Amino acid sequence: MTASASLTWFTDARLGMFVHWGLYSLAARHEWVKNHERMTDAEYEPYFAHFDPDRYDPRAWARTAKAAGAGYVVLTAKHHDGFCLWNSALTDYTSMNTPFGRDAVAEFVEACRAEGLRVGLYYSLIDWHHRSFPVDGTHPQRDDEDFKTAAADRDIRDYQRYLHGQVRELLTGYGQIDYLFFDFSYTHRADYWGGKGAEDWDAENLLCMVRALQPQIIVNDRLGIPGDIVTPEQYQPLEPMTRDGEPVAWEACQTLNGSWGYDRDNLDSKSSESLIKLLIDGVSKDGNLLLNVGPDGRGRIDPVAQRTFDEIATWMDDHARSIHGAGPAPWKAPSDTRYTLRGDRLYVHLFSWPFKHLHLPGLAGKVAYAQLMTDASELIPLHIDPDRVAQNTLMGGLPEGTLTLQLPIQRPHSPVPVIELFLNPGS
Ligand code: GLC
Repeated sequence: MTASASLTWFTDARLGMFVHWGLYSLAARHEWVKNHERMTDAEYEPYFAHFDPDRYDPRAWARTAKAAGAGYVVLTAKHHDGFCLWNSALTDYTSMNTPFGRDAVAEFVEACRAEGLRVGLYYSLIDWHHRSFPVDGTHPQRDDEDFKTAAADRDIRDYQRYLHGQVRELLTGYGQIDYLFFDFSYTHRADYWGGKGAEDWDAENLLCMVRALQPQIIVNDRLGIPGDIVTPEQYQPLEPMTRDGEPVAWEACQTLNGSWGYDRDNLDSKSSESLIKLLIDGVSKDGNLLLNVGPDGRGRIDPVAQRTFDEIATWMDDHARSIHGAGPAPWKAPSDTRYTLRGDRLYVHLFSWPFKHLHLPGLAGKVAYAQLMTDASELIPLHIDPDRVAQNTLMGGLPEGTLTLQLPIQRPHSPVPVIELFLNPGS
């Protein structure tokens, strides 16, 4: 198994858009609805029969992603329910056989390319529809004794052939695919009996095939064997991530409201401000953010999600250069701030607005010029003698090497104001 070509486009992009969309979008109550409600195939069938997203416009998704500063989009080609959004020759359970009757993956891929975005596909290793997928603790019929008896002789090797064949289809039928997101392995999970992992997927061979078909592709880490990146889900690591003691590229995937699939009555929306902070926090720790959207049954991004992405777009429009191509800085950032570094620019992201002065330990003598990104207004450094003791209006008692900047009293109108520091050569 050879490692993939290059991660540069991926780590430079820093932000991606995840799209969870499929039959469950019609149920509109979480993408695990079939599992949650222990639905049979017959009970789930109406979504297949009524899948007719008349407003499917992946160009609109791609534009939303692009405007928000995302560099790539990842679509659920197949989720755990087994429904395929492309014209697979290996099953009838595809978008082609619904009233929609189109290959959604083909249109998606084309739309991303037209907007200059990298293309990612999500493929679920779990499959609750395939007749050879052995029933386990994730399965909707996990407690149905008759179903389990009837399914007792299911042969995972048969499913393996299907899985490998489908991945081959996706990697041969749609030109260059930049990123493959497998989901997921669960041999280690106590909450699911009959957990499956690398052996069940024949992961080594699968990954070899993937690399042979698309040598440049980036593959995630959910096959049960290491991939090119690691993928913390719905949590933020404390510091840059490592694998076997070595730094590793990582991407946190996050929902807008706790559900990946469209969830009509969910009011748990995260604010754009907290999502922008999440993105910044990740970059300061050398990571990406894959921010999800769950378009509805007509194929549209709902107004709340759209507004959230639009607000991120507004912030990114002013601040993208503190994100794209940026990474961690070698200095410890003061509390309530995050540093990102790109070339000779250090960016100070202010999670709360300090009163009048900002003290930056270790940066004295290292900064040639400082400005607020909002309006490129100069921020003037204060020269404070390190030996000076604080007294009345005289500031002092600061650790040696501290750079102090004077800030306006009024906080700029931005969810996260950013200071751009031009570092002296060699700093
Ligand atoms: C989990 C969930 C799934 C979602 C994925 C996103 O593994 O099972 O519904 O697609 O996370 O990373």
